[in-house]
Amino acid sequence: MFKSIAAIAMVGLASVANAYPEVDRVHELLNWPQLTFGLYSGYLPVNNSSKQLHYMGVMSQRDQANDPVIIWFNGGPGCSSMLGFLQEHGPVVLDDGATEFKQNPYSWNREANMFYIESPAGVGYSVCPDQSECNFDDDNSADDNLQAVLTLLQKFPELQHNDLYLAGESYAGIYVPKLAERIDAYLTDNENRTDVYKPNFKGFMVGNGVTDWRYDTVPAFIEMSVWHGLIKRDLYDRLMQCDFSYFGVNPTFNLSAECNQAFEDFNTQTQELNVYDVYGQCYIGNQSQTFQQYESFRQTGFLQSGLEEPSYKKYFTAADYTPFLNRNFAGKKSLKESPPCVFGDPIIAYLNNPQVKSQLNIYENSTSWDLCSMINYNSGLNGSVDIYPKLKGKYRMLKYSGDTDGAVPTLGTLKWINDLNWNITEQYRPYYVYKNDGFRVVAGFTESREGNFTFASIHGTGHMAPQWKRQETYHLIFSFINGQAP
Ligand SMILES: *[C@@H]1O[C@H](CO)[C@@H](O)[C@H](O)[C@H]1NC(C)=O
Ligand SMILES: *[C@@H]1O[C@H](CO)[C@@H](O)[C@H](O)[C@H]1NC(C)=O
Ligand SMILES: *[C@@H]1O[C@H](CO)[C@@H](O)[C@H](O)[C@H]1NC(C)=O
Ligand SMILES: *[C@@H]1O[C@H](CO)[C@@H](O)[C@H](O)[C@H]1NC(C)=O
Ligand SMILES: *[C@@H]1O[C@H](CO)[C@@H](O)[C@H](O)[C@H]1NC(C)=O
Ligand SMILES: *[C@@H]1O[C@H](CO)[C@@H](O)[C@H](O)[C@H]1NC(C)=O
Ligand SMILES: *[C@@H]1O[C@H](CO)[C@@H](O)[C@H](O)[C@H]1NC(C)=O
Ligand SMILES: *[C@@H]1O[C@H](CO)[C@@H](O)[C@H](O)[C@H]1NC(C)=O
Ligand SMILES: *[C@@H]1O[C@H](CO)[C@@H](O)[C@H](O)[C@H]1NC(C)=O
Repeated sequence: MFKSIAAIAMVGLASVANAYPEVDRVHELLNWPQLTFGLYSGYLPVNNSSKQLHYMGVMSQRDQANDPVIIWFNGGPGCSSMLGFLQEHGPVVLDDGATEFKQNPYSWNREANMFYIESPAGVGYSVCPDQSECNFDDDNSADDNLQAVLTLLQKFPELQHNDLYLAGESYAGIYVPKLAERIDAYLTDNENRTDVYKPNFKGFMVGNGVTDWRYDTVPAFIEMSVWHGLIKRDLYDRLMQCDFSYFGVNPTFNLSAECNQAFEDFNTQTQELNVYDVYGQCYIGNQSQTFQQYESFRQTGFLQSGLEEPSYKKYFTAADYTPFLNRNFAGKKSLKESPPCVFGDPIIAYLNNPQVKSQLNIYENSTSWDLCSMINYNSGLNGSVDIYPKLKGKYRMLKYSGDTDGAVPTLGTLKWINDLNWNITEQYRPYYVYKNDGFRVVAGFTESREGNFTFASIHGTGHMAPQWKRQETYHLIFSFINGQAP
């Protein structure tokens, strides 16, 4: 099925008091408070290649020795996991539009050792000096990610036997289950060997992740649009005559003239919304701007990074952050949600600051850091839905979903979960958090299924749920990890 990789020999644990990689240690970071926990940043070489993946390690504030390890991936393909670290659930974060960092009371490293891997090679600070090695797909990116995880845990021998979870969002709905499948195969291949290191893999958590191209993205967005009053029933009925499954991935996707027109009408209705949160805001300038002018409003900046002075975009559109929504195959119209809705300027400026790069042990000659990079990536038609039955019952799985996301909407997620046809062990019900003022609010809805599978929505937020509903997402993630009902 896929090539198995060389087994990793056990690292002698008893002999070393502290073998965390001192060369990767981050001692201080510009505009951050003094560090009270271990922070690491370095590279994970991919064997037999020139590729090197960058990682950040953020040690637990609670019980580093015993707390679980969570490895996080953002999506794209092409977008950087530093977004997770600096905007979503790191200890110090930048909010949308903010230029100053603030401490995050819901940092996931409050009770987990967090790692962020920028994958595949060519994304963010990760390097791909030989482009011929960097034509990626859902399988070879998973091969590299498996190596990266094993190499990472070799660097942190004290954490090798802690519970290990994977997590991610958006296109990581494919990266994460694919990597889980690789880890499972590695464990099976080496099950009888005592001389081989075996990660203590427990499960994974995926947020607003693409899983099944039959339902996710456009088909679910159409469904969501009618139920949210974005389109009327007559247009919905026209759209229902057409098949939008595999919209983002099938190069031979084609629509009849009627369906093309219906889709065009759908685009006209919805194109100025923030697809990541249909109640959210985009940065589209003044009222006189026409759709075509959005592009020019994306505002270009220039920055010095190493020897380069590249231009970069201050704002990102769905074409940058979720390229699967806007792939324009021959003859096919792409979804037009492309006002600039993701604000990238401060994080880009920060991560290209020479002082920050040096503090993070980034190669001086590395190319400039970007929120999302153009990489060669071919998505498979199967997505990751086939993996769920294979891992059923062996590992714990959480699928969470911000319920105002139009990019990978909750409705699509519920459909493929329903298709798995696994028995419900706990009926769909609301779950809650308590706000500072003492009031209880509905955080979302949850359901459990046989096979250690949990679904949970995060109510009233979109694609970047961990950023926009920090308390709710934190509550959900750590209830799951601690084996409690949310
Ligand atoms: C690297 O190449 C060597 C020699 O061909 C091979 O034995 C090894 O399995 C390869 N490693 C990986 C991770 O593919
Ligand atoms: C990569 O190569 C190094 C050095 O040969 C070896 O120690 C390590 O186990 C290999 N990693 C993988 C994932 O094969
Ligand atoms: C491990 O040992 C068991 C029992 O001998 C055997 O059934 C299984 O196939 C072995 N696994 C591998 C990967 O060799
Ligand atoms: C919109 O126009 C006003 C008046 O010309 C100007 O002051 C403002 O900066 C503009 N806003 C943006 C976001 O371009
Ligand atoms: C899509 O279908 C239309 C009409 O059926 C046809 O004219 C066009 O060539 C097709 N495009 C592709 C890429 O197959
Ligand atoms: C960049 O620097 C690193 C570390 O010094 C070196 O290994 C690498 O070859 C350099 N890359 C280029 C493209 O110069
Ligand atoms: C996709 O899924 C089908 C049906 O399960 C399977 O036959 C096929 O081998 C899969 N393709 C890939 C590339 O995994
Ligand atoms: C899955 O759930 C069952 C029943 O609750 C439990 O006994 C088992 O340990 C769980 N498996 C994993 C991998 O957590
Ligand atoms: C699912 O529920 C049905 C009906 O209660 C039962 O017959 C079946 O054994 C259950 N399946 C599993 C895997 O528990």
